[in-house]
Amino acid sequence: MLATSQLAPLFDDHLRMQRQRTDEAMAACKFDTLAIHAGSPHMLFLDDHPYPFKPNPHFKLWVPLEDAIDCWLVYRPGEKPRLIFLQPADYWHKPPSLPHGFWTHHFQIEVIREPGDARRHLTQHVGGRCAFIGEWQEQFKDWGFAAANPRELLDRLHYRRAVKTEYELECMRHASHAAARGHVAAEAAFRAGKSEYEIHMAYVRATGHSERELPYSNIVALNTNASVLHYQHQERETPAKHNSFLIDAGAQFHSYAADVTRTYAGSDGDFAALIAGMESLQLQLCSQVRNGVDYANIHLDAHLRIAGLLHDSGVITLSAADAVTSGLSGVFFPHGVGHLLGLQVHDVSGFAVDTTGKRKESPKGHPYLRLTRTLEPGFVVTIEPGLYFIDMLLDEARNGAHGRHINWRRLDEFRPYGGIRVEDDVACTAGAPENLTRDAFAALN
Ligand code: GLY
Ligand code: MN
Ligand code: MN
Repeated sequence: MLATSQLAPLFDDHLRMQRQRTDEAMAACKFDTLAIHAGSPHMLFLDDHPYPFKPNPHFKLWVPLEDAIDCWLVYRPGEKPRLIFLQPADYWHKPPSLPHGFWTHHFQIEVIREPGDARRHLTQHVGGRCAFIGEWQEQFKDWGFAAANPRELLDRLHYRRAVKTEYELECMRHASHAAARGHVAAEAAFRAGKSEYEIHMAYVRATGHSERELPYSNIVALNTNASVLHYQHQERETPAKHNSFLIDAGAQFHSYAADVTRTYAGSDGDFAALIAGMESLQLQLCSQVRNGVDYANIHLDAHLRIAGLLHDSGVITLSAADAVTSGLSGVFFPHGVGHLLGLQVHDVSGFAVDTTGKRKESPKGHPYLRLTRTLEPGFVVTIEPGLYFIDMLLDEARNGAHGRHINWRRLDEFRPYGGIRVEDDVACTAGAPENLTRDAFAALN
């Protein structure tokens, strides 16, 4: 991993690439100017308090600035991009400092004091057909935009975002390191018998993030809570036993996300062996992240391997292949094996076949898979197989055709542990995959 001081040349190349991709997309869609609005704060209902601000990802692709309320990026091919930067005259809040750092010399920075001042800056310089990208507001309707979030333009830009630049990969390496630090601290807190809330706090502290800087809400689940895919609470009470611990928690660096899950057993035994089986099959799946591979096939292979693990552990009686074709594996593994990762945790364009918006849907019977593209060098994907003992799905199975293929006594032994997910972030290269997550954990040792 490079020191942050070495990011400058990578950012130069990153921006060159974004300009090239944007020029092509704008030419194809016949736009002369692009105006990307970072966004405005959203207020709580009947309140004067805003939700945490998250900039538009299109803005973040160009400008590594989180504190970008009502800022704009204005781009015309061949010209220096302009950053319209809001630094309000405000004694209630600390106004953001003027941007500084390795990236600022690429932009012509124009400071405004009121959000509405952006209109004058936009109309002053903007000629021809201007495309707006951002959350639309009524007040923009007479600002002279030719189109708001034109689908054809977005499809082109989104398609290209799957291939990361070296700068983006480096940011994701940094994010992975922060996440790994958090995961190590969280495991220690679990081993020390802490509550979900205390484990969560240990995680956040070790990443160096504040809670609102996390790329998504942490999933910190002890025991049966691990069976809830997006478990959203952090129990303050310490449970009587620490059977198992599933943590899905990320980090970010310059807006690029890490998305990492680990599962631990409180003691040796059959559940620990099941985790070891999942770790081993997960690594097999990670090794398939290679140029030219259809990601949907990795998902289908995950089903086969998870079904094999369930069979070998005595939970199901059907062969792995039959468990997949009959849909039994989906009772235990009811989500996709992963997704594209980048500026967004579930990054855009997972179904895109090309730049035109044509889609390749997920395989029949697998509606939750978010990625069906053929992998290329530069893609970063998650590989996150899981198996869970989910009461709702098991009740349905018991009353349906799958019921007789499950060894219910054996299954009941595993219910107190909730479930298992192991998730790494893996970059596809021209050769062997780069496992950002495993590398980050290894670097801590
Ligand atoms: N943390 C969300 C996911 O794994 O997709
Ligand atoms: Mn994920
Ligand atoms: Mn995750």
